Amino acid sequence: MDRVIDGVKMVLGTLFFIVLNFFKNILPNGVLPRKLVQGKKVLITGSGSGIGRLMAIEFAKLGAEVIIWDVNKDGAEETRKKVEAAGGNASVFIVDLSKYQDIHRVADETKKAVGDVDILINNAGIVTGKKLFDCPDELMEKTMAVNTNAIFYTAKNFLPSMLSKDHGHLVTVASMAGKTGCVGLVDYCASKHGAIGAHDSIAMEILAQKKYGVKTTLVCPFFINTGMFDGVTTKCPALFPILEADYAVECIMEAILTDRPLLCMPKASYSILALIGLLPIEAQVLMADFFGTNESMNDFKGRPKRD
Ligand SMILES: NC(=O)c1ccc[n+]([C@@H]2O[C@H](COP(=O)([O-])OP(=O)(O)OC[C@H]3O[C@@H](n4cnc5c(N)ncnc54)[C@H](O)[C@@H]3O)[C@@H](O)[C@H]2O)c1
Ligand SMILES: *[C@@H]1O[C@H](CO)[C@@H](O)[C@H](O)[C@H]1NC(C)=O
Ligand SMILES: *[C@@H]1O[C@H](CO)[C@@H](O)[C@H](O)[C@H]1NC(C)=O
Repeated sequence: MDRVIDGVKMVLGTLFFIVLNFFKNILPNGVLPRKLVQGKKVLITGSGSGIGRLMAIEFAKLGAEVIIWDVNKDGAEETRKKVEAAGGNASVFIVDLSKYQDIHRVADETKKAVGDVDILINNAGIVTGKKLFDCPDELMEKTMAVNTNAIFYTAKNFLPSMLSKDHGHLVTVASMAGKTGCVGLVDYCASKHGAIGAHDSIAMEILAQKKYGVKTTLVCPFFINTGMFDGVTTKCPALFPILEADYAVECIMEAILTDRPLLCMPKASYSILALIGLLPIEAQVLMADFFGTNESMNDFKGRPKRD
């Protein structure tokens, strides 16, 4: 009898959260109340460029103290300048996220210098853009290390203080490539599926401890025009446009500040999420061909090499 009652509770709870999040997902930005981040410490990995930098500036405008983590010193310093120009306060830590020893070392340094972090945003990411047989092993390993494994080690360092205070926020910038496969993105898709698996499991571990004050947000964007994916194309810009970085960041800020567990961009991406489990691989190929993602990576250039 208890099992039946539990089952009914589970079904009702499930329906409740589906409906709640459906409305959160379709609401325009700016409708729901936003939480305050004045004086909060926000660590953003990969904030030496792209959407990480733009998020750093937005958080600074809201009075948060920004902690910049990046492997690229020039990019990180440039972000610091922009944060300060926006009236904010930032500190820079140079770290190679592909090495867990480095993450642990720089995390210790960071905690000594700035104290506990309130919001951890795992945003750094890399892409080779090479097909399986063209991609050197070292690059495949590095993609997994930066895009997936780094999430374990930053969380190990910065989640404990959030859990003990029952207050904080873990954000993972993954990708729609973490939900589907794609020609030319074997290592990237694998790493983003890994990022989502890690994020969702950590979120479940947080909830299993009933730490409802520690929020989580998973971000899954389609292509964004930051330069990381320069050269990619879309054949169906009405449904799947290449997103403007400013728009993407506006949506990410909204999702974080309204404690949304999931953000997919553009909105048509939610239909892929709903369908994907039902689509056999042949059907996924038909859809990729129709939407042009079978050739999205054909003219991929990405970022120019920097050493
Ligand atoms: N641009 C897109 O089309 C797109 C689409 C979906 C998801 N994303 C994801 O969004 C996130 C941000 O992307 P972006 O477009 O701003 O890219 P970006 O290239 O502009 O920024 C990535 C940052 O990560 C840093 N980084 C790379 N390797 C690092 C390492 N080993 N250690 C420390 N820092 C490192 C880079 O120096 C750079 O500053 C990434 O996780 C990316 O996978 C991007
Ligand atoms: C940022 O602000 C805090 C609090 O005002 C201060 O303690 C810290 O030194 C500042 N950091 C930087 C890098 O300016
Ligand atoms: C992608 O799909 C289109 C439409 O079916 C097709 O014409 C094209 O040849 C495909 N490209 C590749 C590389 O398979």
